Amino acid sequence: MTHHPRMQSLHGTTSVPGDKSISHRALILAALADGSSQIEGFLPSGDCLATLNCLCQLGVEIERIDERSVRVIGKGSDRFRPTEAPVHLDCHRSGTTMRLLAGTLAGQRVQATLLGEPQLLRRPMRRVVEPLREMGALIDDTDGKAPLQIEGQALHGIEHQLAVPSAQVKSAILLAGLTAKGITRITQGTPTRDHTERMLQRMGAPIVVNETTSEVSIHNTRSLRPLSISIPGDLSSAAFLLAGAVISPDSDVKLHRVGINPTRTGLLDVLKTMGADIKIITDEPGAFGNEPTATIRARSSTLRGVTVDGELVPRMIDELPVLALLATQAFGTTIVRNAGELRFKETDRIETVANELRALGAAITATTDGFVVEGPTPLHGANVSDHGDHRLAMMLAIASLITSGNCPIVSGEDRTHDSFPGFFTMLEKLKVPRTRTQPVKRALR
Ligand code: S3P
Repeated sequence: MTHHPRMQSLHGTTSVPGDKSISHRALILAALADGSSQIEGFLPSGDCLATLNCLCQLGVEIERIDERSVRVIGKGSDRFRPTEAPVHLDCHRSGTTMRLLAGTLAGQRVQATLLGEPQLLRRPMRRVVEPLREMGALIDDTDGKAPLQIEGQALHGIEHQLAVPSAQVKSAILLAGLTAKGITRITQGTPTRDHTERMLQRMGAPIVVNETTSEVSIHNTRSLRPLSISIPGDLSSAAFLLAGAVISPDSDVKLHRVGINPTRTGLLDVLKTMGADIKIITDEPGAFGNEPTATIRARSSTLRGVTVDGELVPRMIDELPVLALLATQAFGTTIVRNAGELRFKETDRIETVANELRALGAAITATTDGFVVEGPTPLHGANVSDHGDHRLAMMLAIASLITSGNCPIVSGEDRTHDSFPGFFTMLEKLKVPRTRTQPVKRALR
């Protein structure tokens, strides 16, 4: 790594906000439970607040006790407020809100239109609409995309093989399965995040997961136990700070209570393969229900290139932008393949990541289903764009720790709030300006 006077280090101990995937699911499943649920460590991000507001519009009583604790008065599994005219539910930029609500509402006595911002209206919805229609749902899409018009129907169970490794699609079908007559069975070629299954198990739902094949079956039920849940820190948010510590000189960052569900920990495995100085101290189980957590410590490291493909991809799908940055500082070639799904995220992350990193001096080539990076390359300053994508904005902010000049993000609004409110404040607190004559020593708490 070429050191230069502008480089900044990251130092300190902190904890990142609650997990986004778990926060969405906690709200939706609590709304379907029999009685009052208590959610601590809720992520008050743009995406999760979109879910919260949609549920309120459907007549669910939700009390924000404080910033991170929420009480939800459940409606029971088929008792949303019936609607005469379609209720317009704005999912903003949140794919999880739209897909999970599509599954939730397909079997309810409601009429709803799911809409969102232009960015969300460009994303594929056929992957959830088709299996839901097979279950008997009445859903109109708009050329395979949103807006989606839903008129709740009596559903029946199906056997479904996931065509794309998507936890959002799997969860939508499982949520519909809660009201569908008989058994709904889902098989997945590649395992995807299993927070929905874990939460449903906790709530006493008739769900069976085959640990070896990852096949999931659920039987309809009218009764779900309310939740009392503490949500761990989001590993997908932690990933940016850990990556920052690994690529910047004299850095040492420790993060407490980060979720380490094995369906999410691909980046941690890959960092180890790359030779990163990373330590994971697993917490005693129980504090976060059936979601495991750990303290993770990352320090400045010399990295080597890595290949990421197959089952690893869904286990780190949201971390691939920051992996591309890590790869620019690694010796040798990094190859990411089988990751065509990146093209359907908030932006086409194969193109946006490759273009923006190239603008900073990286040797990165986009491929049809991933990218190839040759490293290490020093990065220089440039005007960059986050294209309205929160993960791109955070990756670029981390890149700027090691660029020789500034990298102003020229595109409009701060989008990091979609998944990581307080990201820039936390990053500033961890930043230590470093010059060659003043090495930094700050004790970790
Ligand atoms: C999510 C699943 C992933 C991920 C998204 C959140 C979820 O999407 O990219 O940020 O909460 O289920 P897919 O399931 O579409 O791959």
